Amino acid sequence: MSSRFVAGMTVDEVLRAAEAIQQQGIASTLDSLGENVTTPQEAQRSADIYHRLLDAIQSRRLNANVSVKLTQMGMDLDTHHEQARSIVSDLVDHAVAANTFVRVDMEGCEYTQATIDLVRALHAKPANRGHVGIVIQAYLYRSAADIAALTQEGIRIRLCKGAYKEPPDLAYPQKSHVDGNFVKLTRQLLDTAGNANNDAASVANNGSVTGIYHGIATHDDAMVEAAKSYVKEKNIDRHSFEFQMLYGVRRDLQRALVAEGYNVRVYVPFGAEWYPYFMRRLAERPANVLFLAKNMLKS
Ligand code: FDA
Repeated sequence: MSSRFVAGMTVDEVLRAAEAIQQQGIASTLDSLGENVTTPQEAQRSADIYHRLLDAIQSRRLNANVSVKLTQMGMDLDTHHEQARSIVSDLVDHAVAANTFVRVDMEGCEYTQATIDLVRALHAKPANRGHVGIVIQAYLYRSAADIAALTQEGIRIRLCKGAYKEPPDLAYPQKSHVDGNFVKLTRQLLDTAGNANNDAASVANNGSVTGIYHGIATHDDAMVEAAKSYVKEKNIDRHSFEFQMLYGVRRDLQRALVAEGYNVRVYVPFGAEWYPYFMRRLAERPANVLFLAKNMLKS
């Protein structure tokens, strides 16, 4: 049942999935599932998988990058996060050499500031500009200020609603408020995209666009429509940002956006530690349980 949302257990399987997605005109970001490792050896083993992915992205010329979780890279192993910083720094160096990009996923609120600090420190190295980016969650009150600071430095942002259970003093408890903030933050990001007349943000990231190349990550039709209408209203280049969705979710919408000429990237998770990820996807949308059960009965 999990194969709807998880692209297999091995590196070979995820690469095959990325190639199939690419044939539909969709880019990918590869995620080796796992979080909160407890030993340095475990953290390094997790990173080794990402090094294999980066080699394969380069050798197979895939339109792909990688997404990593800091707790999987040893964030909890020392108070100053030296272990995670060193491991992710090596990954970003590798991504620079492979001409691709490392997205640092955002986890629960206890990691927000440390994640921002670490990504800013890595991005400050001139060779890394445009090769490491972050995720900002629309449910957090602090996010508009974080986006302002990060875009000032030219850091690429993936905007999502946020997937963790957070307290009401830090995050909007109501979905309608999260949605409202997502629309506001989408506009804030798009103002720093390709053709925005904003000098502070005019950094070249991969040589083909000037401005910051952000990701709008959602399956919500209303959020997608809000982004599209802002792009139209401000005459923003459609290729100066991308929509991002999860593997197996709203494939109809992914295809429709590609057909309309938008850039789309799919987040492709794989690996032995698929279970918590799979359960989060089911919890997000109980109808998925029914959908999967029906398919299982059919097969
Ligand atoms: P919402 O949950 O409001 O759903 C809107 C509609 O989308 C639903 O009505 C349904 O139609 C469809 N939909 C949503 N989820 C579905 C599912 N599982 N199956 C089928 N349909 C579904 N979070 C985080 O905290 N840190 C991170 O780093 C990331 N990274 C990330 C990357 C990418 C590429 C995506 C798409 C998402 C994330 N997330 C994340 C998860 C994100 O925060 C959020 O939990 C989910 O994307 C669900 O939010 P939506 O915007 O899709 O809207």
